[in-house]
Amino acid sequence: MRLEGKRAVVTGAASGIGRATAQALAAAGARVFVADVDEAGGEQTCGAVRQTGGEADFVLLDVTEDASIAALADAVLGRGAAPDVVVNAAGWDRVEPFVDNSVEFMERVVRLNLLGTVKVAKAFLPAMIDAGAGAIVNVASDAGRVGSSGETVYAGAKGGIIAFTKSLAREMAPHDIRVNCVCPGPTDTPLFRSLPEKLQAALTRAIPFRRIARPEEIADAILFFASPRSTFITGQVLSVSGGLTMAG
Ligand SMILES: NC(=O)c1ccc[n+]([C@@H]2O[C@H](COP(=O)([O-])OP(=O)(O)OC[C@H]3O[C@@H](n4cnc5c(N)ncnc54)[C@H](O)[C@@H]3O)[C@@H](O)[C@H]2O)c1
Repeated sequence: MRLEGKRAVVTGAASGIGRATAQALAAAGARVFVADVDEAGGEQTCGAVRQTGGEADFVLLDVTEDASIAALADAVLGRGAAPDVVVNAAGWDRVEPFVDNSVEFMERVVRLNLLGTVKVAKAFLPAMIDAGAGAIVNVASDAGRVGSSGETVYAGAKGGIIAFTKSLAREMAPHDIRVNCVCPGPTDTPLFRSLPEKLQAALTRAIPFRRIARPEEIADAILFFASPRSTFITGQVLSVSGGLTMAG
């Protein structure tokens, strides 16, 4: 799955799945823009990429701020052509009963997970349409396919990402831009480790493979959708969850 000469933007690339994705895309030959609100983590990702001979640049990004998304687009488009690949991996949640969710919490979860994905895609699409090529890969969650107790608004936002992916794929097909979605199951990242230990154990037990995913295993699926190995695939949703969910 070679991506030599390609340019890729990865949001949420300072940690976990986004970092593993940035490393996988760079290892395949792409020059990667590591976009994240966490500057120290983002620079660590860039360092790890460069150590293995890859190319990476950090761009500060807060997906909840329109001006920050515009600055990301300026930084990427100002340094050459449209990106060939955009991966929306930035995301966040906290497990809490829905009835206890504050309005501020609910709005943040939707703004960050759903609207962040929508707005980052929109920021790059005019240039990608002009180029007549490209791949967008959105990272949702199996919570958005089958629900997840204590993650109700997050599941709604992720379900929104899935529906957004499908409609955007239809609109972008005439421009040869593919849009697909990866749904991780429980994956060994700081986000998963922030869950209560009992919940971590229960989720792990429920997975047929009896273990959680490594971030690299999610990145492999994202790399597939980003690469020329999937040129006839668009609007699809792929769960990478060790069989935890088997959505029809
Ligand atoms: N880890 C899991 O079990 C799991 C399961 C399903 C889905 N996911 C999804 O995978 C994606 C990656 O999650 P992860 O597990 O690697 O988590 P993580 O916490 O390790 O990484 C998330 C990254 O997003 C960044 N981020 C958070 N808010 C941001 C903002 N406002 N602007 C820009 N960047 C921001 C963080 O700084 C961090 O680098 C998320 O969309 C998450 O919802 C994770």
